[in-house]
Amino acid sequence: MSAPIMVSEQEIQNQYTYLDAVSRMIGGRGKRAYTHTFGCQQNEADTERIRGMLAEMGYEMTDSPEEADFILFNTCAVREHAEDRAFGNIGALRQLKKQRPDIIIALCGCMAQQEKNVEKIKKSYPQVSLLFGTHALWRFPSLLYRVLNGEKRVFDIGGEDDIAEGLPVLREQGAKAWLSIMYGCNNFCTYCIVPYVRGRERSRRPEDIEKELRELVAAGYKDITLLGQNVNSYGKDLGLDMDFSDLLRRLNDVPGDFLLRFMTSHPKDASPKLFDTMADCPKIAKQLHLPFQSGSDAVLRRMNRRYTAEDYCKLIDYARDRMPDIVLSSDIIVGFPGEREEDFQQTLDLVRKVRFDLLFTFLYSKRSGTPAAEYDDPATPEEKQDRFARLLRAQDEIVAARQAAYMGRTLRVLVDGAAKSPEHPFTARTEGNLLVCVRGDGIQIGEFIEVDVEKTSLRCLFAVKKE
Ligand code: SAH
Ligand code: SF4
Ligand code: F3S
Repeated sequence: MSAPIMVSEQEIQNQYTYLDAVSRMIGGRGKRAYTHTFGCQQNEADTERIRGMLAEMGYEMTDSPEEADFILFNTCAVREHAEDRAFGNIGALRQLKKQRPDIIIALCGCMAQQEKNVEKIKKSYPQVSLLFGTHALWRFPSLLYRVLNGEKRVFDIGGEDDIAEGLPVLREQGAKAWLSIMYGCNNFCTYCIVPYVRGRERSRRPEDIEKELRELVAAGYKDITLLGQNVNSYGKDLGLDMDFSDLLRRLNDVPGDFLLRFMTSHPKDASPKLFDTMADCPKIAKQLHLPFQSGSDAVLRRMNRRYTAEDYCKLIDYARDRMPDIVLSSDIIVGFPGEREEDFQQTLDLVRKVRFDLLFTFLYSKRSGTPAAEYDDPATPEEKQDRFARLLRAQDEIVAARQAAYMGRTLRVLVDGAAKSPEHPFTARTEGNLLVCVRGDGIQIGEFIEVDVEKTSLRCLFAVKKE
C-alpha cells in the first residue's frame, strides 16, 4: 500500500498566513471562544487542535457560550442521540445570534461530514455560519478568515484522507494528554458510521509520534493515551517494517516517568505479540479496551466483526496469563438488528465469563447509509430495553465484586485532580485507569504515589496515602 498523503508544508504554511491575518483582525480586542465536544477521544483531540489555532489567533477561551464571540460544536454521528443533542444545542443559540448577530457559530466533526446533516444545517439552521468536516480541520484558519471577511456562510466538507502535521494545539492542563497515532477506519462494521465520516485508515509517521510524545513528557504530562479507531492496524499503510507493538516498544524507550495507554483495539488485529509487548514494557499501562460488541457468533458475523466469541476469549486468556492484574473494558451493542434472546444470552455469558472491570453498553442506533440500517429488526424497543437493563444489572454485580477485591491492597496511582468527597479530597488513577479517591498529607496533583485501599464502591476505590 502507498504511504498516506501528507498535507504539504507549503499548505500548512499558508494556513499560518491566514492565522496571522485573523490574529490581526481580532487579536488584542478581548475576543473569546467557546468550544463544545461531542463523541470520542478523537474528537477531543481534534478540538484541542482547533483551540490551539484559536489561541494563536488571539482568542481567549471561555466556558460560557453567552460570553463568546466564536462558538464551535465538534460533533459526533455515531448514534442518533449524539446528533439530536448537537442539533438541540445549535437550535438553542438562535436567540443569542438574533441578539448578537456578530457572533460566529461553527459546526465541525463527524456530523459535518454527512450530506443529510449538511443539508439540514443549510436549510434550517441559518445561525451556523461556518461548517467544516473532519477532513478540512487543518484548513480552519482560511475558513474562519473568509467568515470574518464577510462571506455569509462558509461550508467545507471536501478534502482527502490525508495527514496534517505541524498544527498548533491547546491541551487541557493536568496529567493526561491525547496523542493521535492514526486516523480513519477500514473495518466497516455494518452498524457503524465512522468509516464514512473519518475516511480510510492512515498512520502518522513514527518519528512524528515520538517527537510529540517527547514534547508531552517534557511539558509534564504523565498519562498519555495513544488514539486511533483501530490502533492494532497501525503502520499497515506506511510501508515500513513495523507494527503497533513495535511502535509501543519505541515509545516505551522515551525517557521520563509516564504511562502510555492506547485505544481502541479491535479483536481481529490484537495479537499475542501485542500482549507480550505490553507485559515487557514498564511504561505501557496494563489496561486494555477491547470491544467485543456481541457474544453471539451469528450476530458478530452480521456485524462484520471477523472474530468469534471463542477467538475473543482466547485473546483475553492470553492477556490475563501474561498480565494477571490487567484492567479490562469493552463496548457492547444491545439490540443489533436480528438479535434474538439466545444471542443476547450469549452476550451475558461472555460478560459473566470474562468479568470486565468496565463496560460501555449501547442500544443499537440505526445509521442511514450503513448496511445494518437495511437489516430486518423484529425485536421491539421494549425487548431491547429489557435486555439492556439485564446487562447493566449483571455487570453491576461483577463490578461490585471486582472492586471489593481491591480492599486492603497497595496500589501505585497518579493523582490527577480534586474530588468532591471532603474525606478523600483528591482523585487519582491506577495504572489500569481505575478511579481512586485519596486522602493523606502532602498529596500533589500530577504525582505518582502509593496508596492503601480502605473502602470500595461501584464507581470508586477509596484509599489513604502510604506513609
Ligand atoms: N473504533 C472503535 C470504537 C468506535 S465507536 C471500535 O471499533 O471499537 C464506539 C462504540 O460505539 C463502538 O465500539 C460500538 O460499541 C458503539 N457503536 C458504534 N456504532 C453504533 C450504533 N450504530 N449503535 C449503537 N452503538 C454503536
Ligand atoms: Fe466503527 Fe468498526 Fe471501525 Fe470501530 S472498527 S470505528 S466499530 S467500523
Ligand atoms: Fe463519534 Fe466521530 Fe468519534 S462519529 S465516536 S466523534 S469518530
